Amino acid sequence: RYAYVNGRFVHHDDAAVHIEDRGYQFADGVYEVIPVHDRRLIDEGPHLDRLEYSLNELRIGLPMSRRALEMLARELIRRNAVTYGFIYMQVTRGVAPRDHKFPKKTPAPALTMTTRQLPKPSAEMEEGYSVVSAPDMRWKRPDIKSVSLLPNILAKQKAAEAGCQEAWLVDENGKVTEGSATNAWIVTKDNKVVTRRADNSILSGITRLSLLKVMEREGYELEVRPFSLEEAHDAREAFLTSSTNFVTPITRIDGRAVGNGHPGILTMKLRQAYIEQVV
Ligand code: PDD
Repeated sequence: RYAYVNGRFVHHDDAAVHIEDRGYQFADGVYEVIPVHDRRLIDEGPHLDRLEYSLNELRIGLPMSRRALEMLARELIRRNAVTYGFIYMQVTRGVAPRDHKFPKKTPAPALTMTTRQLPKPSAEMEEGYSVVSAPDMRWKRPDIKSVSLLPNILAKQKAAEAGCQEAWLVDENGKVTEGSATNAWIVTKDNKVVTRRADNSILSGITRLSLLKVMEREGYELEVRPFSLEEAHDAREAFLTSSTNFVTPITRIDGRAVGNGHPGILTMKLRQAYIEQVV
């Protein structure tokens, strides 16, 4: 298995970066996770748009042209024979003696890529995920896909210790922002799909964007607004979206069943529609 590290394909076991990489010392960098479906990258355009956005917000340069990034990504997928899974791409500000402010002489941004093989996603799902709620302790710019993920890690660990697959983060107004690594959705008793606006308070998920398009095309009723944890507890259905989970039903929140405790009908339709449109 190969990885890409600063200009070279190397064996994964030998892939290493400098200890004074600002990504390592300050989490001064950003990343993307792009799904691979049947050897093809899914939504690579929007993912690279978001990579550029994150880099811009942090004033880190694009390490190479988009075209070159795409070609490297494809080459790594080919070398690793990834059929289903994802490619992980990370860009940091680069290597410089430790000093909080940006280095005076701008270092070359450091670029690394790895891949992961995952099982082929199925439109069916017997069981939904369970989630726990946790306070959203992140900084005020989760719209930047930064590698600084301590609050996300702690929330996900809390979920794992509670036997759950994800944590839903709750802001100071009692509203769900998103999951630790996924976007959050509910379906109300009158079949309206609710999700929060992608402002600075959440990551604008690419799966979320794709699903919104599917919903528009198929005429689903949508409300783009924040929802409270209470509303989620009382919702008919709940689900999450991400590049690695697609559309995944949620059947328990804080130990309480959502709806009838089974994956929601509308959720499963959306999962199927989403998977069909990426194939
Ligand atoms: N997580 N919100 C957060 C905080 C995320 O980290 C992610 C993605 C999402 C969903 O975004 P997308 O649909 O573009 O994958 C929402 C990736 C998969 C990760 O960190 O592994």
